[in-house]
Amino acid sequence: MLKEDRRLQILERIMREHNYQRSALLEILHAAHELYGYFDKSLLAYIAERLNLPPSHVYGVASFYHLFKFRKPGEHIISACMGTACYVKGVEEIIAAIEREFDVKRGGSTPDGRLSLFVTRCIGACAMAPNITVDDEVIGRATKEVVLERVRRFLEG
Ligand code: FES
Repeated sequence: MLKEDRRLQILERIMREHNYQRSALLEILHAAHELYGYFDKSLLAYIAERLNLPPSHVYGVASFYHLFKFRKPGEHIISACMGTACYVKGVEEIIAAIEREFDVKRGGSTPDGRLSLFVTRCIGACAMAPNITVDDEVIGRATKEVVLERVRRFLEG
């Protein structure tokens, strides 16, 4: 069962923009992967159901592409939007601060595996740029102070 959160709302909106067309599967898989950082069974099953496709087909397409991950990368996942609006509003500076503070590189995880950092394309919330997602929470108009503080709290919790 997928949790009803902001990521799911964004994914749903992206699918709607594609009119739930099966031909948009790869595009939708990319978007979902960027939002969640990896695929699990419930996410792929959800996409299959919404696009009215057999789950085995969705899984088959997803597993064909090596850049997709199927295991939760770290205990906590930060995903930073690198779309144009977020870039212009200084997301790069926030990413650099996360890398320095937590000893993690974009696309990778901390040595203890507790934190992973990803960059994504536009998540469709440009008015709130820059956007950083920490686990289930999308932080809009993010500043490095707020994000670092939030991540510290997640790591302590
Ligand atoms: S560019 Fe980041 S939400 Fe659109």
